[in-house]
Amino acid sequence: MKLSINGQVSEVDVEDDTPLLWVLREQLGLTGTKYGCGIAMCGACTVHIDGVAQRSCVLPISAVSETQKITTIEGLGVQQFHPVQDAWAEIDVAQCGFCQPGMIMAVSSLLAQDPNPTDEQIQSEITNICRCGTYPRVLEGVKLAAQRMASNQKAGGSNEQV
Ligand code: FES
Ligand code: FES
Repeated sequence: MKLSINGQVSEVDVEDDTPLLWVLREQLGLTGTKYGCGIAMCGACTVHIDGVAQRSCVLPISAVSETQKITTIEGLGVQQFHPVQDAWAEIDVAQCGFCQPGMIMAVSSLLAQDPNPTDEQIQSEITNICRCGTYPRVLEGVKLAAQRMASNQKAGGSNEQV
């Protein structure tokens, strides 16, 4: 089947029930998307499908159509860093980093839908698990990214991804 990933069409030959995560990692070499639990609990495998965060470890490839746009961490901020990536770098959110691609994909999707979430909304929407306990910096990073996105918009810039 054909898939639209990070702005390019890729062709893969896999069983219908293969989870998207394994297509990305094993067929296409996009290993930025991580395997944590395999049961939709941890969020390490989060990607965007048409801009919405989805846990790819439980999404069979047959549930994704050719017309849907899949974005992985490799496709976020290609020309320049996404404001979430900038904020993450600025305040050093990551510790070991394993959960962070999924965390960044979840946060960028949240801010695309709700540019000014409250602490409570961030805590209820970003349910990704971080074994290093970076949660306070994640919260700080979401707020910094939200401020950056608001000022980009005021300046007439774009927060678009691929
Ligand atoms: S690996 Fe998909 S949610 Fe944990
Ligand atoms: S930074 Fe290590 S698991 Fe989150």
